[in-house]
Amino acid sequence: MTSLLSYGKPYWSKEIAANKLTNRVGGGSGFVGRELTRLLTNKGHEVTVISRQPGPGKITWGELESSGLPACEGAVNLAGENLMNPFRWWNESYKKDLFSSRIDTTKTLARAIAASPSPPRSWVLVSGVACYKPSLTAQYTEDSEWTPFDLLSKLVKEWEASALLPEDVAKTTKQSVVRPGVVLGCDGGAMKQMLLPFWLGLGGTLGSGNQPFPWIHVSDLAGIIAHALEPPADTPSPSPQVFNGVAPALNTNYEFTKELGRVIRRPTIFPVPGFVVNTLLGAERGMVLTQGQKVVPERTQESGFQYKYPDLTSALKEIVGS
Ligand SMILES: NC(=O)c1ccc[n+]([C@@H]2O[C@H](COP(=O)([O-])OP(=O)(O)OC[C@H]3O[C@@H](n4cnc5c(N)ncnc54)[C@H](OP(=O)(O)O)[C@@H]3O)[C@@H](O)[C@H]2O)c1
Repeated sequence: MTSLLSYGKPYWSKEIAANKLTNRVGGGSGFVGRELTRLLTNKGHEVTVISRQPGPGKITWGELESSGLPACEGAVNLAGENLMNPFRWWNESYKKDLFSSRIDTTKTLARAIAASPSPPRSWVLVSGVACYKPSLTAQYTEDSEWTPFDLLSKLVKEWEASALLPEDVAKTTKQSVVRPGVVLGCDGGAMKQMLLPFWLGLGGTLGSGNQPFPWIHVSDLAGIIAHALEPPADTPSPSPQVFNGVAPALNTNYEFTKELGRVIRRPTIFPVPGFVVNTLLGAERGMVLTQGQKVVPERTQESGFQYKYPDLTSALKEIVGS
């Protein structure tokens, strides 16, 4: 497969960068979106966020529906109600919002791409690794077969299906799906909620601690999305290319917990039993923390993507600034 570095005209080549590629990013105001926007704008490209709120550098989902997609080279969807929203109980209304916030926005953007007189060259959906069944032994690459087995895997199935473009549009617009694990960064996501208890010396393993903990540094995730945004060199493949958005290191929750404690020099002696996590978060959501999948970024690496933070030590040190 061609890579970011080996394309005749790579996405970031001076020649193309001079032309300033424009990108429309649904949910670009969030944790991952802010990092992606920083990366793209640092390279001289332009980002318009698609948001529920109007504002400078933004268009709203309503405007997208009524006026269509402003011409662009790349489109991404990152929008979705936060799965770990600490202010929401795990109930039917929350579950409904998790689905509709992802599926409706993805459908709206896919429809706008299909209806555009000049569709973008690349379209990237960011979904998740919840499609892979938690296991202590199985390893999953982008080519692993999977069928939905619980609520979150059903969500991924419907979410990814809603991103599919009609055949004629897919001949010119490259479709990609990036499936991130737990995204680590100082500016949001899981670390924002975990750091305080760890600083206070109250951090500990979750459940047995043996469960795999697929993770990625937010800066690498932004890099993989940018990688997937590269315009196609030839006719794109008719179905989406999947990239597992995880670091190549396969760590357990125990290893993550101990390494975070070591990096911030705090004890991690208070394990949190699985039933406590499940009671606090709801079992369907708690399993994201108490169970996990060994996810291998095979295609991501084969396609030439270079990680800045391939191991926990480098990622955690960057995040806590030590
Ligand atoms: N962070 C992780 O660890 C992680 C792991 C795996 C997968 N993912 C997926 O990656 C994507 C980006 O993650 P993130 O952490 O950047 O997300 P985030 O910051 O929680 O949210 C991204 C954006 O989604 C929009 N949004 C929030 N609630 C919404 C709702 N009810 N309806 C429509 N839009 C809504 C918001 O944009 P506006 O307020 O501007 O509308 C928000 O800025 C998400 O789809 C997430 O499921 C994240």
